[in-house]
Amino acid sequence: MMIKFYFLGHDYEYEARNALRVFDLNTDFEITYSSFEGRGLSIVSCLEDGEVISAKAQLYKDNEILYESCFNANGIVLEKYGIKKLKKTLVIKTIHNVLKSYYNVYPDYGILTGVRVAKILLTAKKHSKSNEEIDDILRNTYEVKEEKIKLLWDILKIEEKYIDEYSNNKNYNLYIGIPFCPSKCSYCSFTSYVNCPQKKINSYLDTLAYEIEKTIELAKKRKLCLHTIYLGGGTPSVLSNEQIDKIFSTIKKHYELFRIKEITFEAGRPDTLDKEKLSCLKNNFVNRISINPQTMNDDTLLSVGRKHLSCDIVEKYLIAKEIGFKTINMDIILGLPGEDESDVRNTIEIIAGLNPENITVHSLAYKKHSELTRESAKFCKDYELIKKMHYVIKEVCEDKGYKPYYMYRQKNIKGNSENIGYTKKGRECIYNMVMIEELETILGCGLGATSKIITGENKHEPLRNFKSLEEYSKRIDEIINKKQTLLGDNII
Ligand SMILES: C[S@@+](CC[C@H](N)C(=O)[O-])C[C@H]1O[C@@H](n2cnc3c(N)ncnc32)[C@H](O)[C@@H]1O
Ligand code: SF4
Repeated sequence: MMIKFYFLGHDYEYEARNALRVFDLNTDFEITYSSFEGRGLSIVSCLEDGEVISAKAQLYKDNEILYESCFNANGIVLEKYGIKKLKKTLVIKTIHNVLKSYYNVYPDYGILTGVRVAKILLTAKKHSKSNEEIDDILRNTYEVKEEKIKLLWDILKIEEKYIDEYSNNKNYNLYIGIPFCPSKCSYCSFTSYVNCPQKKINSYLDTLAYEIEKTIELAKKRKLCLHTIYLGGGTPSVLSNEQIDKIFSTIKKHYELFRIKEITFEAGRPDTLDKEKLSCLKNNFVNRISINPQTMNDDTLLSVGRKHLSCDIVEKYLIAKEIGFKTINMDIILGLPGEDESDVRNTIEIIAGLNPENITVHSLAYKKHSELTRESAKFCKDYELIKKMHYVIKEVCEDKGYKPYYMYRQKNIKGNSENIGYTKKGRECIYNMVMIEELETILGCGLGATSKIITGENKHEPLRNFKSLEEYSKRIDEIINKKQTLLGDNII
């Protein structure tokens, strides 16, 4: 199938594409500024910049109008005012509404397509909107469903504890990327090398140590305080104990590890863990780890290339608890190939039975560079299935005393839904919240890592490190110079 967009009075191509992708990942589209031809399926989208800005979308099948949607600026309340944002919102809203009628699908997050939804509440609060006005923005402007509005307020209740302009501006958080994995999972597109020779890993760690050292020096020069550290990837736990010690010894030159509020280490794959490795992490004052099942269905695990079984998860979790890790997170994914509601119930009941402090629930996203996406003939949104799966998770998590504490959405996500972090009381991961809500500066070190410098309203564009091992090593000084320039503007 193919939809042709005719634009009049605007050029919001990116927005139209995203509006379509909410409903359909398979249909091709074309955007034109020429006059309407009336063949096949078309959407005519107009923006009128008169005294009151207005937008209209009409969905045609050949020459016949099937659906029409019009909105004007009156009654559109936004979290912060901006004429461009208002125009874009009107165009998206009208296109969304004709597509909603055409597909007969009523998305939970309405017209929203961005990653950071709870940030809308934070921004609105900053602009002195009342709670009623914020509800109005979510409900009427963005067409978010009531249960999701409640979820957002629940999340904000926990996140609010971490919002303080003075300390948020003063803090920084260090992200360290380890782009190696024991095998490639079919759904994943994170930058990671499988079976990388030790020589290359060691050479990577040399560059990484250099980058960490320089980054910490820059942060200290700007009088930033280290709040949290997050070692992610990839799978950092593929490293040997000596390699892990080497990373921490670089940090130790500047900070006493035991004083750092939160050190997360993604020890995601149980096939990379044993008692010695977990003890090595503990000795380096890591106080939060992830041991990630994704699912407790062994057939699925094998089919997505995880190369471990569900019993390995339980075994390594129990060892980690015995060693004394106080906060353990477990990641799961909803919508893995072949899974239904009962698989998810089985997974969450076993996991919640283990009682980890955090459970992070992802909805499968079709990533451009994953094997699953490459091999899929058709991309299924599976709205109803994913919705039911989220209900199962919510029911079991609530029953076991977990609360949602952060959320984000991804493009091409199944069910057009979200990823939700659940936590036991007081055990929320600070890094996840300050990163997703863009509350504090993140300085990223390592291949593909992203840095973001935050100074109140004036946040900088993200700085992304190179994504190939060769380039990362060769051009590390370029990255450090860019960081210096960005941080240079940030005189606290
Ligand atoms: C950066 S990965 C690292 C985790 C670790 N290497 C592991 O596999 O356990 C973090 C998490 O992202 C999630 N993830 C990765 N690809 C995904 C996708 N395509 N859709 C949804 N979640 C995804 C998985 O739950 C994974 O645990
Ligand atoms: S999910 Fe984890 S282990 Fe699998 S490829 Fe992605 S980063 Fe590597």
